[in-house]
Amino acid sequence: MTIVVTGASGKLGTAIRDAAAERDIETIACSRSLDGSIEPAELERHLEERTPAAVIDVSVPERTHEVIDACVATKTPLVIGTTGFAVEASERFDRASEQIPLLKASNFARGVHALETLVREAVGLLESYDIELTETHHNRKRDAPSGTAKSLLETIEAERELDDRVFGREGHQPRSDGNIGVHVRRAGSIHGEHEILLAGNDEALTITHRAESRRVFAAGALDSARWLADRPAGRYAFSEVVAEQ
Ligand SMILES: NC(=O)c1ccc[n+]([C@@H]2O[C@H](COP(=O)([O-])OP(=O)(O)OC[C@H]3O[C@@H](n4cnc5c(N)ncnc54)[C@H](OP(=O)(O)O)[C@@H]3O)[C@@H](O)[C@H]2O)c1
Repeated sequence: MTIVVTGASGKLGTAIRDAAAERDIETIACSRSLDGSIEPAELERHLEERTPAAVIDVSVPERTHEVIDACVATKTPLVIGTTGFAVEASERFDRASEQIPLLKASNFARGVHALETLVREAVGLLESYDIELTETHHNRKRDAPSGTAKSLLETIEAERELDDRVFGREGHQPRSDGNIGVHVRRAGSIHGEHEILLAGNDEALTITHRAESRRVFAAGALDSARWLADRPAGRYAFSEVVAEQ
């Protein structure tokens, strides 16, 4: 199997190329800066000529939009791991998925998939408890809160039928019923931590996921590409990959 990695010079792009080499998956790097990689402007031509099984995009949102165009033009399956899109981007993913198989995941860790399930259940069981979410990432991360945090917030809000996020607190800011506190920390080289705190009735429950290496994301991205390669056009989720592999 051959896959193209866009954003190949980045931290996650590098981890994906390393993990692919261990699995005997051939990768074609697409990047502005990596020696021997294909130029982003040349992506469409290379997809046309080399017909890879899929593209894995782990770049920046502005680049991802160009990658979508190239994949749609060449009917190449696309796995998007990039985060930090505007809300409207989801419609663009939907439109593209009418023509190609497209899987977008803000987190390729299987443990985060389990975390989503546990959080949904705990929030449902502890109806009146206060909820605070804290996420921590390395000091180079561009978007905040993380894509995973946003996804967890949507899960909580769907379960609680409310939407009242409070981002950090300062000064006189007492907690209101139904607030969901959101806290973002950026420091060092931390790969990614997400903690949900539920507190009430003289007790507190925390559920935490910690990525210990980027290898966990690389493995999930490659599993997704393999799973997506032979699918018909449509919008897919990482939960479907986890359910079947
Ligand atoms: N889904 C997941 O499980 C998961 C896990 C971790 C991270 N992520 C996401 O994956 C994306 C990449 O993360 P990363 O840690 O690998 O980031 P990174 O190290 O900054 O790499 C991003 C790459 O994108 C390229 N790029 C294109 N246009 C750019 C621009 N205008 N400014 C800066 N870089 C640009 C750069 O490559 P060239 O300059 O060589 O083209 C860069 O190496 C982020 O959105 C991150 O949140 C997802």
